[in-house]
Amino acid sequence: MTSDTFAVSGALRRLVLGGLVAACLGLSMGLAHAGNIVLGKEKAAQACVACHGADGVKAIDPSYPVLAGQYEDFLVRALTDYKTGARKNAIMAGMAAPLTKEEIANLAAYYASLPGPLKIIKR
Ligand code: HEC
Repeated sequence: MTSDTFAVSGALRRLVLGGLVAACLGLSMGLAHAGNIVLGKEKAAQACVACHGADGVKAIDPSYPVLAGQYEDFLVRALTDYKTGARKNAIMAGMAAPLTKEEIANLAAYYASLPGPLKIIKR
């Protein structure tokens, strides 16, 4: 091997390492937006189980919606809309008002992760 070969492989190694670092940064930035299921579960235990039930399936009243297994992006949208007032409900407006964007993402990730009875009926 000549010293040229070393120079090339050194540059190549830096390029590959640089790519890996960039890929890892991209991944962690992507994850920062995804909800944290564990934190979502903690928050749900404090703020949501009283009405929506421990498992997000059996609510205290049959007219209260099932949250378990609901689409994550739908849950984010619903909670955000209650918070902004785009979706109006006296009870949920009060529940969503104090939630941060991060808490909403965590709650949505948690409820979406639970097994639920919701399904798409094929016609
Ligand atoms: C005091 C009872 C109560 C509490 C506590 C409560 N909810 Fe609700 N929730 C309701 C009711 C009632 C509705 C139906 C409102 C409507 O018709 O828009 C609802 C609706 C929702 C919806 C819309 C679901 C759908 O299918 O459209 C989401 C999402 C939701 N709640 C999440 C939460 C989360 C997360 C918490 C905890 C931070 C929480 N709720 C706490 C009573 C409650």
